[in-house]
Amino acid sequence: MDLFHLYHRIVSRWRIVLAVIVGCLILAGIYLAVTPRIYSSRAVLQVRQPGGKLLDAATSGADDGVSPEVLKTVEQNLTSQSLLLRVVHTAHLADDAGFAPPKSNGASYLDSELLALLQSRLSIEVRRGTRLIDVMVEDRDPVRAERLARALVSQYLEQSFEDQLASMKTSNGYLSNEVQRFWPELPQIEKALAKNDPSGLLDVTSVVQDPEVADLQERIHVEEANFASLKEVFMENHPRYQAMQRRLEELHEEQDAALLRAAQRIENSYQNTETTETEFANRLQQQEQQIASNGALASYETLAQNVESDRALYDAVLARMRQTSGNSSVSPAPAMVENAVQIVEEPLVSAKPVKPRRSLVLAAALLAGLVLGVGIIFGEDYIRSAFTNVYDIESSLGVPVLAAVPKVPSLGRAGASVAANPNSVETEAFRTLRAAIHLLEGRESSTATQGLVRNAVLFTSANPGEGKTTCAYNYAVMLARQGLRTLLVDADLRRATLTLRVASEKKLSGLADVLAGRESLSEACRLLPDNRLSFLSAGRTTVETAEHFDSAGIADVLHKLSSQFDRIVIDTPPVNVVSDSLLIVPHVLMNCLIIQAGATQKRAVAHACGELKKVNRGIVGAILNQVGTDSRASYECYGYAKNFTYTYNYTA
Ligand SMILES: Nc1ncnc2c1ncn2[C@@H]1O[C@H](COP(=O)(O)OP(=O)(O)O)[C@@H](O)[C@H]1O
Ligand SMILES: [Mg+2]
Repeated sequence: MDLFHLYHRIVSRWRIVLAVIVGCLILAGIYLAVTPRIYSSRAVLQVRQPGGKLLDAATSGADDGVSPEVLKTVEQNLTSQSLLLRVVHTAHLADDAGFAPPKSNGASYLDSELLALLQSRLSIEVRRGTRLIDVMVEDRDPVRAERLARALVSQYLEQSFEDQLASMKTSNGYLSNEVQRFWPELPQIEKALAKNDPSGLLDVTSVVQDPEVADLQERIHVEEANFASLKEVFMENHPRYQAMQRRLEELHEEQDAALLRAAQRIENSYQNTETTETEFANRLQQQEQQIASNGALASYETLAQNVESDRALYDAVLARMRQTSGNSSVSPAPAMVENAVQIVEEPLVSAKPVKPRRSLVLAAALLAGLVLGVGIIFGEDYIRSAFTNVYDIESSLGVPVLAAVPKVPSLGRAGASVAANPNSVETEAFRTLRAAIHLLEGRESSTATQGLVRNAVLFTSANPGEGKTTCAYNYAVMLARQGLRTLLVDADLRRATLTLRVASEKKLSGLADVLAGRESLSEACRLLPDNRLSFLSAGRTTVETAEHFDSAGIADVLHKLSSQFDRIVIDTPPVNVVSDSLLIVPHVLMNCLIIQAGATQKRAVAHACGELKKVNRGIVGAILNQVGTDSRASYECYGYAKNFTYTYNYTA
């Protein structure tokens, strides 16, 4: 199927496409009318890099790059069961008939059911390439959507704030322990430092544990052991004895200095820890007061920021403590909540529903209508089993369509012929047929066609009533009008409609009589009243007619006639009903098959062609008969979109 054909099929049947589109649009309208409107409310959250604010310049730049894990964690936390349950309870969703319609059995909703309902209306999305998270709640009621979005965000912030507070309490406790640990040793350290007397520090456990001090202590022990054994061998004034004594003195001095340094470090770390603890305690108190006095949502954000600052401060102090004390027993505090979230956009009450999306639904309906409409047009060809156009016939039978004869009621009337109206479309169709057969004759007679009657044209079809008689008669009239000596033969002995139509009498002697030897051929062929066309009627049939109707007899008659006439036009019975045509077909050069447009089944045509092929070279061409005269038919048959055909414009 080429594009041109495709285009014309659509153009010619645009009403179907339009009807289907309108149908689809109506359905879309009904859908839009009955579908409940869904409103959405959206809050936008921004995730900040944990601790980004208080870290030093080198690390604060990392605020830009929140790791995907952090974003994912926030996203997951926003849909966590505990958070959603908080929302369900704080927003009293169990009592909200609009959110959870009363069950038919009157039972109340379980938490899990309310949770599922809330989950189905909620969507959390991280905006790609940003630190923004969209929290969207959809509901039939725009106010409820906004209320739920707001509740979700505030509950999330509240929950994470509470977590952080708990974490801070743990940290505070830890710092208190650190302070307590150094507390008993501190007076001794301070005294020794004031007097600059390191000897007293040797009782302080944490100073002695200092690696530098411990190392020197070890070395002093070794040297003292060596010195004891040296004393036994050498005298006091021996140089080796004196050198050893000097080294020991040096080591003791070094140890004193190390002791003082260690004490100083412990004092510093104590002071740091104490400061941090005080600061933490103050903040904790402040925040707890704030929660108690003002539970408003707005304060959560500031509180969350404070918590974050405190945590960063704590981290910084902890790091410094580790450096100064060199004490590996200082372990990091329990992990704190790793995210800090800020509201960037507050949820609003939406005036416009998000679903159903009117323009999208209408566009989809339009497209669906178009596709469906075009589909129906093309599907029609496959579904319909009758031939409707010349392209179909030519492509399935492999023979040319010689003419498309329009459906003109007057054509079928007794005695009426195209000759009555030379300016009509049907006359033009038969002119076309005449020309097409003439051209084909030239081509066919050049092929190996030995023994065939070259000037005979036979009309047959698969079934009765498809127009064999009509076409044969009018074609013969057209030949006669051209001045050719034409003989029209009614070879349909069983029905003899042609005889009735042209001679108004069935009892006329004709072919059956010639075959039976009752009549001579020259007498049986008579001129019709207009004196142009000769006619051989079906003749008077008797019980023996069927016996005389044999292939050889017919061949003999046709050969005799062929020399007397320029053209012999033969009307025959249908191939699929009786075998008579098959007896004549083998002797004729031009066999044409009539196909009634939109009526003759493709299977019937295939069967007829098969039968004809068995006895002859098959048909040389087809004639599409009773074609409608609308624009569609005109395209399908001739290719002219506006007029069925061109005609000569006769003036009387
Ligand atoms: N092109 C046509 N336009 C209108 N009516 C037609 C046309 N061809 C045939 N008919 C009608 O169809 C009927 C059968 O036609 P006919 O030629 O007798 O068919 P067949 O010889 O194949 O049995 C007749 O009533 C005839 O008037
Ligand atoms: Mg007939």
